[in-house]
Amino acid sequence: MWKIAKELKKAGVVGINARNAGYIMPLNQRKFYPLVDDKRQTKELAIKAGLEIPELYAVIEYQWQIKNFQKLVAGHETFVIKPARGSQGDGITVIDQRTKNGWRKVGGSIISDNDVSYYLSNILSGMYSLANQPDVALVEYRVNFDPVFSKITYKGVPDIRVVVYRGVPAMAMLRLPTKESDGKANLHKGGIGAGVDIKTGITTTAVQHDKVVELHPDTNLPVANLQIPNWEKILYISALSAELSHLGYLGVDIVLDENLGPLILELNARPGLAIQIANRMGFAARFHQIDLALPNLETLEEKLAFVAQL
Ligand SMILES: Nc1ncnc2c1ncn2[C@@H]1O[C@H](COP(=O)(O)OP(=O)(O)O)[C@@H](O)[C@H]1O
Ligand SMILES: [Mg+2]
Repeated sequence: MWKIAKELKKAGVVGINARNAGYIMPLNQRKFYPLVDDKRQTKELAIKAGLEIPELYAVIEYQWQIKNFQKLVAGHETFVIKPARGSQGDGITVIDQRTKNGWRKVGGSIISDNDVSYYLSNILSGMYSLANQPDVALVEYRVNFDPVFSKITYKGVPDIRVVVYRGVPAMAMLRLPTKESDGKANLHKGGIGAGVDIKTGITTTAVQHDKVVELHPDTNLPVANLQIPNWEKILYISALSAELSHLGYLGVDIVLDENLGPLILELNARPGLAIQIANRMGFAARFHQIDLALPNLETLEEKLAFVAQL
């Protein structure tokens, strides 16, 4: 164990204590957290700046509204329900279709109207939210992923995580849903994380549960060497999100919709550390590179030009 820790440190891989003390505390002011901790506020922030997001269909704020759920989602066959203040994929349900007996989830199982009511009630009571605070349920557009991912995802939408350090996109990873992760791309749910070359947007090695994998476990096809489309735009959205949120250490989650292109899913003030393992590269060296260059990088364009020549 000790030897692994030492090797990771040598590779500049940052652990949880160093992240909290070195990046989150000095770079992220608490007063800006609400903007990113609440997905409804994040949507408003993005819309104001002209950035695209999955459309919000409905917000359920009060227990009495739950009985009106059918009416609130009228006209939508497929959608996603999520807690506004959730994380790590907890409490997210991707609904595929209305059926006679209830709603069919992307995985194929059916949830009854009663189950949906109970689940919504749990979201409102804070079961999935940060510190179990009372929450609201969001119902939003269900993303149809870009077909470029169809060979390496299992019944769910992959997302692209970009870590932005002091306004500069620093490291990226493509997260891919698996059978185990139930339609969600989160690594804690069993999704795969593939490193992505920050300059080109091409995938490299991947990890699942902190172990290196080469093939997607459900499709048996290789995960590396895939060019993510719209890469320049993804970097632009990430850098602009950092500016808008005023956070110096930020995780930006972006999905690629088949028709709508890149959409911001959420912003994260405490992005995890596995992205370093997926990229086989620690934050320390990359962040140091950025620290050295920053005195000469004033505008967003200059920051993006720096990334393009990394
Ligand atoms: N609108 C959506 N359409 C399709 N899949 C979604 C949608 N929203 C979330 N997901 C799936 O759930 C995962 C987690 O969503 P996210 O909004 O980032 O919440 P969390 O804060 O729990 O990570 C995404 O990576 C994606 O796989
Ligand atoms: Mg997320």
